Amino acid sequence: MRSAFLLAFFIALAGRVLALNVSIGGTVGNISATDFLKVNDAQLISDCSSNCTAGNQALQSCTDNACFCSNETVIAITSCQQCMLTTVIAQNRKVADPRAGSAAALSAYTGACADPKVNITVPATLTAIKLPADWDGPQSLTLNTGTTVVAVIAGAVLGLSLIYVVNTM
Ligand SMILES: *[C@@H]1O[C@H](CO)[C@@H](O)[C@H](O)[C@H]1NC(C)=O
Ligand SMILES: *[C@@H]1O[C@H](CO)[C@@H](O)[C@H](O)[C@H]1NC(C)=O
Repeated sequence: MRSAFLLAFFIALAGRVLALNVSIGGTVGNISATDFLKVNDAQLISDCSSNCTAGNQALQSCTDNACFCSNETVIAITSCQQCMLTTVIAQNRKVADPRAGSAAALSAYTGACADPKVNITVPATLTAIKLPADWDGPQSLTLNTGTTVVAVIAGAVLGLSLIYVVNTM
């Protein structure tokens, strides 16, 4: 009885050790792949439940890296990430969790698969998430505010010098 319990304990422990480790960074740090879609934002979880449930179930049912890094699993988590990206843009809000609708988080995930210890290459096309076609907001998810301001100033300087060049021709 006791040894059966210990055996179960060690199997559970081994399972935890084997789960793919994803290095997200920021406030989240390193997580197990099973937590990849457990974004710390109840509204987003609820808004994307129809796209994220399949991905979460796929992750919770995986017991080895071949499963975590399979095309099926990656397609399911990308669909969830795409929903989160589209949703936060539509709601025009910022979610602090770096796992929310993030191409960087997806590339951290496939990076964990590519790690020599795991050595599984996930096709990049499976993790491509797109900005909504009708998105024309002023803020960019890839540029932070500082970079955006610099880009706008650089654009203005360039525009002004072109006017200057035209005027002095
Ligand atoms: C997170 O994982 C990366 C890559 O595996 C490792 O280099 C880093 O030391 C880890 N950080 C923590 C806080 O465990
Ligand atoms: C990774 O996998 C490839 C193809 O399956 C194999 O050729 C290569 O030797 C593996 N590399 C490592 C570090 O295991």
